[in-house]
Amino acid sequence: MKRVIDQTATADAEGFADASFSATVITWQKQHGRHALPWQQTQEAYRIWLSEIMLQQTQVSAVIPYYQRFLQRFPDVATLAAAPSEAVMAHWSGLGYYTRARNLHRCAQRIVQDYAGQFPADPVLLQELPGIGRSTAAAISAFAYGTRAAILDGNVKRVFARVFGVDAYPGLRLVEELLWRRAVALLPQNDIGSYTQGLMDLGATLCTRSKPQCPACPFKSRCVALATDRVSDLPVRKPKKTVPEKHTAMLLITDGDRVLLEQRPDSGIWGGLLSLPEIPHLLDEESAALEEMLGEVVMRFGVARDYQRLPPFSHGFTHFKLHVAPYRINLLHRHAVVEQGGFVWLAADEIDNAPLPAPVKKLLRVL
Ligand code: ADE
Repeated sequence: MKRVIDQTATADAEGFADASFSATVITWQKQHGRHALPWQQTQEAYRIWLSEIMLQQTQVSAVIPYYQRFLQRFPDVATLAAAPSEAVMAHWSGLGYYTRARNLHRCAQRIVQDYAGQFPADPVLLQELPGIGRSTAAAISAFAYGTRAAILDGNVKRVFARVFGVDAYPGLRLVEELLWRRAVALLPQNDIGSYTQGLMDLGATLCTRSKPQCPACPFKSRCVALATDRVSDLPVRKPKKTVPEKHTAMLLITDGDRVLLEQRPDSGIWGGLLSLPEIPHLLDEESAALEEMLGEVVMRFGVARDYQRLPPFSHGFTHFKLHVAPYRINLLHRHAVVEQGGFVWLAADEIDNAPLPAPVKKLLRVL
């Protein structure tokens, strides 16, 4: 465990060490933590490994029946390694995230081939096996062998973010690295099993994402998030992706109770629907250029009486946000031309059943 000890030294030097933290977790775990979970009744690395893989993306209550059925069919790592993959998949069926099952099977075969059926105690070696990341390796090693290794799963990140007031998104590489250094620095000298389980239990039972039970928390007197009223803001959420913004001007050209609509191209947004004719939106909305473009479109259909800016609105698509500046143009006179390709004049009572995009239909209804 030389590597772990070296890491502890660096992390301590950063001022993250704090013996009272682990003491609080251990005392709390012994009195209030979970003790009756099936994988807590064993020191067998195979069973602990299996539970940790199942618990990676699944809640305890969902895991328990699968865990028990799985162990009845595959009681040890040799049986699992030798089983046909269909049997393994069948016993995983319903738990989800099936890559876990494929990796589990491959991992069992590696344990048999490379380690004579014995899971190694060193988390660095465990982490090289299929399906075992750094935190899972540490949990297996701590529970099965008492190795002093740090876990850092989503629950633990939340506990740290709140207790220590970590004010940055934990998904950022640098923030995560800092949290790992903290996790290593906080490790107790003894009782690593209770400590590891205690961190998990705190995150799963008290320091939950929503409705945390702060009054019952052993860290209530020192939790930075609680003291600064930021429990619901920490951990910092993933920053929203900024979606591109697009602008367009829509023309509501009316002749009495009829409105001019244009068939949209088959591809792109609102493909194939009828919509209002559009012209590029100009940032200076009162500009002469806008009037000119507007005039050119209107000229094809008639003579304008007046035009009026309507209140702008926005519509969110998955990949961008569309800002619409609508203009209403009443025709004084409509050209007596035969229908122009792609354009139709729709009467007010035809709007409801026409294939129009929802925001356009809404705009027309309001008018
Ligand atoms: N989640 C991950 N590992 C766990 C464990 N050992 N007990 C409860 N929940 C867990």
